[in-house]
Amino acid sequence: MNETTKAIIKSTAPVIKEHGEAITTAMYKILFAKYPETEALFKDAEPDQYKKLAAMVYAYAANIDKLDSLKSGIDKVANIHVNVNILPEHYPMVGESLLGAIKEVLGDAATPEIINAWEEAYGFLAKVFIAKEQELYAAK
Ligand code: HEM
Repeated sequence: MNETTKAIIKSTAPVIKEHGEAITTAMYKILFAKYPETEALFKDAEPDQYKKLAAMVYAYAANIDKLDSLKSGIDKVANIHVNVNILPEHYPMVGESLLGAIKEVLGDAATPEIINAWEEAYGFLAKVFIAKEQELYAAK
């Protein structure tokens, strides 16, 4: 991820904070409509799951220039993901749904520049999760 992308992501942190829960609520709707097989993965998830996801997406945007501060949070979530069998192929499904939700909620404010930056930033975070989860699956 280059510095321009990071700067764009960081500049969206306040809007992500304001609209985070609307974005993640819309994200699940898109995800379950388009990829119904993912819904069962959430069968034991807490009802406030969307709030936790929104908080993490915001934390990522706000700390994109100091990703080390996110490491313990990422490791914790990766452990939870491994317990419910989240796999690498699920990440593009969530990514597409998250991008769709950002567009839906932010409307015209989601410029192509912002959408491209989020696509890249999501891909980066997805790789971090996938690598950590691979390590945890291998150690099982
Ligand atoms: C970069 C992408 C992702 C982020 C930032 C993320 C974030 C989170 C967070 C913050 C939690 C809550 C953990 C807690 O309870 O403390 C969580 C749980 C969960 N995530 Fe993800 N996640 C991502 C990708 C995915 C993908 C690709 C899937 C697969 C569809 C997925 C499925 C789940 C499920 C099913 C739970 C709930 C597990 C349970 O409590 O039973 N996540 N995730």
